[in-house]
Amino acid sequence: MRVSVLVLCALICLFVVLAEARQRRENQTGARSLERRHGNRIRENVGHQENVARRGNVGRRGNRLAARGKNSRRRRQNAARKNRKRRNLAKKKNHRTKAKSRREGTSTASSGSSYAVLPLDFDQNYMRTTDSIQFERVFLAHRYGLSFAATTGRTALANTGNMQYTCKGFIGGQKFIFLPDTGSSNIWVPGPHCESKACKVHNRYHPGKSSTYVKNGTAFAIDYESGSVEGVLAMDNMKVAGLTVTNQTFAMTTKEPGSVFVKSKFDGILGLGYQSISVDNVKTLVQNMCSEDVITTCVFAICMRGGGSSSRGGALIFGSTDTSAYTGSHSYTYTPVTKQGYWQFKLQGIYVGGTKVGGPIQAIVDSGTSLITAPPRIYKKINQILGCTETSSGECWMECSKAVPYYEFEVAGVKLRLPGHKMMMRVKTKKGRTICLSAVTLLDGPVILGDSLIRHYCVIFDLAKNRIGFAATTYSN
Ligand SMILES: *[C@@H]1O[C@H](CO)[C@@H](O)[C@H](O)[C@H]1NC(C)=O
Ligand SMILES: *[C@@H]1O[C@H](CO)[C@@H](O)[C@H](O)[C@H]1NC(C)=O
Ligand SMILES: *[C@@H]1O[C@H](CO)[C@@H](O)[C@H](O)[C@H]1NC(C)=O
Repeated sequence: MRVSVLVLCALICLFVVLAEARQRRENQTGARSLERRHGNRIRENVGHQENVARRGNVGRRGNRLAARGKNSRRRRQNAARKNRKRRNLAKKKNHRTKAKSRREGTSTASSGSSYAVLPLDFDQNYMRTTDSIQFERVFLAHRYGLSFAATTGRTALANTGNMQYTCKGFIGGQKFIFLPDTGSSNIWVPGPHCESKACKVHNRYHPGKSSTYVKNGTAFAIDYESGSVEGVLAMDNMKVAGLTVTNQTFAMTTKEPGSVFVKSKFDGILGLGYQSISVDNVKTLVQNMCSEDVITTCVFAICMRGGGSSSRGGALIFGSTDTSAYTGSHSYTYTPVTKQGYWQFKLQGIYVGGTKVGGPIQAIVDSGTSLITAPPRIYKKINQILGCTETSSGECWMECSKAVPYYEFEVAGVKLRLPGHKMMMRVKTKKGRTICLSAVTLLDGPVILGDSLIRHYCVIFDLAKNRIGFAATTYSN
């Protein structure tokens, strides 16, 4: 009797345990199918458009991309498959179609509702980075057989005593130091047969050492205010700021007379003006950059730092107007180029200590000079305000203790302001005495704005829109 009671109890217990296990199994299946439905709907929304494009081959690539989520997805799919089998046992034909499309990784409407089974998992935590976008661009360029080259470049300017700003460059793989000069439009470097002293103390171009050299032979001569050079034209690949221009015509000098270039920190000059003032009508570097699609935006920018000699004296930027490292959030004021030769524009007015001394007048931005020049009328008015002593050579000197008021150059309704103490230059006389000169020297013609202005305003030279832009630098020079 006692034994039979025990057996009965054991049987009841077994029944309860089994029933509970069955219940749990059912609960789990339900939960799983709920989860599946939910997950698929998210993916369906996300992948709605991709869905169409993803049929066929594309789906297979998607499978590879989703390799990470494979295991969990397989588990889910197995459960789903079991469920569906149970539900659709009768609709065998329908089921076969579905299985086929599932193999292909495409979506199919299951009975009653439209759930998509997409092969691609959507990772909601994935954040795009600039690297990933860069990688994708390279990938795309490779797929379509396009070249993927940089379309902007920047190179550091070295500052020598706030007088010369130079950059590195290569012609036919040979390295040179250049003076970037917006006031001229040719490129020249010392040639192999130049016997002038200036050539002997600088890097020379050797055609024999370049496999990409192409002979031209046309004679070349250029006169700068400060000196002249003679030479012959040649053609080779040129690299500046990491950007390579193929077939750039330049000059190899044969003569660099006088002493002007002997002491220069640069081997040659990199002209950045318009082609119309280019000797022998040589196509300029920036023009070639644009026509060869080396840069996609046909602009360049120059920023200069003061503070004397430094290897980090600013930047020469091609194909971009991003000067934020120098100008922060300051915006550019643009004015049209009035004559396409030099970078010439209309200066609406010049003010010293708030008093107008001239304008409107034509002006030129010239990165090849450290000075600011003005024609006689304006020069005289400035000197009256400063109370300096004019010399016969077109300078005006004063004691270095003198207080100089601020200057303003009005461009397109905006006054570009330069601090007065930056408008005097400390120089040593032949007798060894230190005196100060006004930064504005005498030269008849348009106003020339050199490094003294560029140090305080980055300048954009926009060849596409034929305009010049100025934005104040964020540091004090
Ligand atoms: C199954 O689900 C029902 C209701 O959702 C719940 O009352 C029951 O406790 C669950 N059973 C198990 C074994 O989880
Ligand atoms: C560069 O010049 C050489 C010789 O004239 C020519 O064969 C080559 O096609 C030119 N390359 C380009 C990109 O213009
Ligand atoms: C030399 O260069 C100039 C300027 O680019 C060009 O007009 C001329 O045709 C070239 N001459 C030769 C022989 O290549």
